[in-house]
Amino acid sequence: MSSVVYLNGEYLPRSEAKLSVDERGFFFGDGVYEVTRAVDGHLFESGRHMRRLARGLKELRLTPSVSLEEIEAISLELLRRNDITSGEGTVYLQITRGAAPRTHHFPPAGTPCTVFLSAGRFTLPTDKRATGVAVVTYPDIRWSRCDIKTVNLLGAVMAKQYATDHGAFESLFVKESAVTEGSHTNVFGVIDGELRTYPSSNLILPGITRDVVLELAREIGVPVNETPFHIHHIPDLQESFLTGTTTDVMPIASIDGKAVGDGKPGKVTMALYDALAARLYVAVGAGRR
Ligand SMILES: Cc1ncc(COP(=O)(O)O)c(C=O)c1O
Repeated sequence: MSSVVYLNGEYLPRSEAKLSVDERGFFFGDGVYEVTRAVDGHLFESGRHMRRLARGLKELRLTPSVSLEEIEAISLELLRRNDITSGEGTVYLQITRGAAPRTHHFPPAGTPCTVFLSAGRFTLPTDKRATGVAVVTYPDIRWSRCDIKTVNLLGAVMAKQYATDHGAFESLFVKESAVTEGSHTNVFGVIDGELRTYPSSNLILPGITRDVVLELAREIGVPVNETPFHIHHIPDLQESFLTGTTTDVMPIASIDGKAVGDGKPGKVTMALYDALAARLYVAVGAGRR
């Protein structure tokens, strides 16, 4: 059965949702997106997602006709219409500068933004979490506004394909020897019992899960140091993990074929995963997955 999506004010079967070939998302990747987790039909950390979206829209000077409140309401309606009111789901949102004859500069004033949302189920990567995942390093070839969640994702696409080609789960971007983040995840290391991660700046996406995990680390008494670990620190890592909306907290077992710590999911990593799971599931009154 075709899922129901939202496009520019209408709920439609996915197969009937059509975009113009003059769409600026298609020409330029001129837009922003969000992926929000849904547990039992509830949106997780929707406020944080909406704040990040609002910031991205402002930075790119995009002015969609829907409000953030309407976006939340559409998200919930899509979960309902697609019967994703129990179990794990995600809501995808994309807003672009709309359809207009191709020019690099902005289209004429009044060109409506394209607003698209869809909802889907997803399967938790539970097996991978039990063993931890292999990751590889990759040069950070991206632009200098990685803090904006733009649909212009070529750096991420090339990095993730490199990981796939090498049988790895994820690529870690490396800039001037510092590990910045993953292709679609943030990355953490534990060195001398201290949690390290690249500081929030224009060079990484301020991940919602990253934010929540930093908050949880402070709550459960894990020392936090928002400075990056570097390539030469890899042998000193006691633990390392990825965070993301569909990745949660994912232990890293090896980097470029070398074991991290003893190569098994570490204590700090799993304590943070447990704390995140408590937020994800207990908050909505759902059982632990
Ligand atoms: C480059 C990048 N970093 C980090 C993340 C994780 O962000 P979040 O926790 O909001 O999913 C993503 C998610 O897509 C990403 O694309």
